[in-house]
Amino acid sequence: MAGPLKDKHVVLGVTGSIACYKALDLASKLMQAGALVDVIMSYGATQFVTPLAFRSLTHRAVVTDSFDPDSEYSVEHVALAQQADVIVIAPATVHCIAKLALGLADDPLTTTIVAATCPLVVAPAMDGNMYDHPATRANLATLKERGVVIAGPGIGRLASGLSGVGRLLETPELLGHISYAMGKDGDLAGRTVVVSAGGTMEPIDPVRVITNHSSGKMGYALAEAARDRGANVVLVTAPTNLADPALINVVQVRTAEQMGAAIQEHAEKADALVMAAAVADYRPTEAADQKIKKSDDDLNITLSKTTDILKTAKGNFVRVGFAAESQNLVANAKAKVDSKKLDLIVANDITAEGSGFGSDTNQATLIDRDLVVEELPLLSKYDVSNRILDRVKDLFRD
Ligand code: PMT
Repeated sequence: MAGPLKDKHVVLGVTGSIACYKALDLASKLMQAGALVDVIMSYGATQFVTPLAFRSLTHRAVVTDSFDPDSEYSVEHVALAQQADVIVIAPATVHCIAKLALGLADDPLTTTIVAATCPLVVAPAMDGNMYDHPATRANLATLKERGVVIAGPGIGRLASGLSGVGRLLETPELLGHISYAMGKDGDLAGRTVVVSAGGTMEPIDPVRVITNHSSGKMGYALAEAARDRGANVVLVTAPTNLADPALINVVQVRTAEQMGAAIQEHAEKADALVMAAAVADYRPTEAADQKIKKSDDDLNITLSKTTDILKTAKGNFVRVGFAAESQNLVANAKAKVDSKKLDLIVANDITAEGSGFGSDTNQATLIDRDLVVEELPLLSKYDVSNRILDRVKDLFRD
């Protein structure tokens, strides 16, 4: 199954910080995502972690010396610079950032970067005062102006024992920044895509809700795929167990009413609205203020219809719905294209193996406004998302 890093050549630069230990996890996750990973370490980095550790994870020689007579490349920095799809420096020290801002090239990593034209991600890790130093701030601003993606730093416990800004971002966030860097000039650049995800929760009382089995995976995959093609993404999500994806504007909501309000707020400026959320069709008419006590009698709850967000959202955007069906998949989905005035619907047979709620894959059927049907094979939710976005791209209003 393809993801944004599959078959990509990533050059991972590692410079001297205790956060080097986290770069091992990044190298491992890049490999698991299908990337080819070449590691270049500064002298300082080799004092924290051995090149052998990276070599064991990437199955490739690690570059530490510009003048290595045993190197497989004739001119190593040029060869790696030309082959790389993206270069990421994690962790990036104050010293390394200063050298990059000045364009210095005095070691294998900086010479490779000066010779490269691919996207560059710099993930700073340092003490809070070093990060706040005016020189560091100015150097980072210079890199940003040049189009470098600055990933973090995060806030939290630092090696000094103090708490503050300066932590290397965690691996999932770094992976998000790397995918974003590779796709930021993609075919959705300049577009705003609003995506909904998760299952809404309608309160019965302060401890009970009516909800459904949506894990949010489909909506989050859509948001990430749109980000990785350059879109500005707003993800309106009901509660899930998923971490907020990097570089996406995440709006947390609980109920269908809250989701509707958040979507309307953002949809006005959107080029596309993709409703992958499983929104409650009914909610308890009155939510009890206090916990309803168990008694010997049955309990009847009166439900009221919720507003259909997809049908009523105002704006001139491409309107994409999902249909989760347990029977008559195509007929039921076609009826929704008409009733909700959709440009496209993604029909899910929730009874099919590896599809629908909670799975990492989906077998979806796309139906357009002319009711033309395209059955997709079983794909990862990320790949399904890209197939949907391929369609959305051709439907933009201008
Ligand atoms: O989150 P996962 O675990 O990855 O699972 C993915 C999924 C199965 C939830 C998702 O792929 C999916 O099918 N979502 C739509 C589920 C659904 O609510 O379908 P529906 O047929 O009830 O609604 C049709 C469309 O109208 C949907 O786009 C829905 O978001 C929208 N709707 C529904 C009710 C409502 N009040 N407002 C809406 O906008």
